[in-house]
Order: sequence, then structure tokens, then C-alpha cells
Amino acid sequence: MKVKKAVIPAAGWGTRMLPVTKSVPKELLYLAGKPVLQYIIEEAVASGIEDILIITNRGKSAIDDYFDYHPDLEGKLANSGKAKELAQVHNPADLANFYFIRQKEAKGLGHAVGKARGFVGNEPFAVLLGDDIMQAETPVLRQLIDAAERYEASALGVQKVSDQALSRYSSVKVEPLEEKVFRATDMIEKPGPGQAFSNYAILGRYVLTPDVFDIIENLKPGYGGEIQLTDALQQLCLRSPMVAVDFEGRRYDTGNPIGFLEATLEFSARDPETGPWLEAYLKERAGQK
Ligand code: G1P
Repeated sequence: MKVKKAVIPAAGWGTRMLPVTKSVPKELLYLAGKPVLQYIIEEAVASGIEDILIITNRGKSAIDDYFDYHPDLEGKLANSGKAKELAQVHNPADLANFYFIRQKEAKGLGHAVGKARGFVGNEPFAVLLGDDIMQAETPVLRQLIDAAERYEASALGVQKVSDQALSRYSSVKVEPLEEKVFRATDMIEKPGPGQAFSNYAILGRYVLTPDVFDIIENLKPGYGGEIQLTDALQQLCLRSPMVAVDFEGRRYDTGNPIGFLEATLEFSARDPETGPWLEAYLKERAGQK
């Protein structure tokens, strides 16, 4: 099994980040030096992905523009000898082969992924959610692809979350296969009290087989009246093997203000250009209390 294609749903409204998201896609918000979405694309590329479909909606064409060349600006930067800035502007367009499609109707994550059918064809493919930035030694998607290849299975990225947090995510029923890898045999989106199978929640990364598209096409709306990807995967795991990988790495949910701030601070602290300043600033503030 070779996984060369990835799908990134980026059609959410960004309601937790209003008002800026009424005119700026949340995926393009500046986070410690680059847009949120670029971190996700770099993880995909570092995991061996070559072709990337980004699923957008009305008002998000700035995303297509970002992954394009910008000859006017590049010319100016070249003439003024700004090599670093020139590379920053030019290089994102060359990270992968980019494709774009619009979801057109806000009918949920499963519906958005269903739009990828023509792009995916008959190959296994990855899904990376546009809000979730992962920091890991081995890219999280690569960890999933390795397990998917080993077991000839689809794969879910999972981690244990608290009982309280489960109701914001999904819960997977797991049977151990090896350290950190489980067979997934059932799952539920946004479990209510007493409905969870385990504390393992799906967190933003998937490797799926194309038989998921037939399931999505016949799926009824689930939680929140939306076509849920988790509901499609619940059926997929009954038809074909599926593993859940308790991945090594840290997840930042940049779709909410606190998660965004956490990622900004963490990445800025590690950056040699901003880290020393941030450390001194935080020390000074702590001293003022
Ligand atoms: C989505 C998925 C959910 C998953 C979560 C975190 O939910 O539907 O299964 O646990 O992302 O990756 P959302 O955050 O869109 O409500």
C-alpha cells in the first residue's frame, strides 16, 4: 500500500475565531512565521505525500492564491536582494501538487471528504484536518501510513483524552495488536454520557481506503444533523481492516483561541529569532506579579 494523495478539509466557518474569519480563512492565520495550513502541508509532504486536495468553500480563494507564485512581489523582492523573503513567498507553491475543490454546502466533515472521490480514484489516501497541527519526531501522518502499510488497513490517529474532552471528539473501540497499535472495531462521534467505547479519540489524521466513498454517499446525517466522517468509518471498519494508532507527538487545536495561543507561544519559544525575546518577556512579566 502506497499513500501519495492527501485531502485537507478546510471548509469550516471558523466560528471560534470570529470576527477575523468572516473575511480571512482561519487556515491562513499567521502562527509563528507561517500560516496554520502550511504546517499541515509540511507534515503531509514529510510523510511522502505528493498530491494534495484542499477542500474549501465560498470566500476562501485566498488559500488557492497562497499556494501559487506571486511574480510581482517576487520580482520586487529579487530586485531588492531580499533572498529570505523571496524564498518564503515562492516556496509554498512548490511543496506539492495542489488541487482545490469547493464543498458548496456546509453538510459536515464526511460530506466534505466525499468531494474528494474524483481526485482520489482507486488509491488509499490520507486525510488531515485543517485545524490540527502536530509536532512529532516522526511526522504523525507517517506513523499512520507505516501502520496502514504493515496491516494492509485503513488507520486512525488516536490519543487518550479526558472523560470531559471525549464529548468534543469521538471515541473508538479498540483491541490491542502491538504497542500503540490497536484494531478499531467501532466508534462514535461526540459521545454523550455513557456512550464512549474508550478514552481514545480520533485526532485529525486518517489513512482511508477508497471504499469509504460508497459509504459516504449513502450516509444519513448524524451528530448535529451533519454527514459525519466518523459514522462512515464506523461502517468501513466492519467491512475492511482498520487500525487505530496511538501516535507519538503533540497536537495543537488551532481552531480555538487558547489552542492557537498555545501553539504560537510554543513555536515562538523554539524559534531562535523569537525564543530569547519571549523567554525574557515572560520572566519580566512573572517578576512583576
Ligand atoms: C472532528 C471529527 C472528530 C475528531 C475531531 C478532532 O470534529 O469529527 O471525530 O475527534 O475533529 O480531530 P470537529 O472538531 O470538527 O467537531
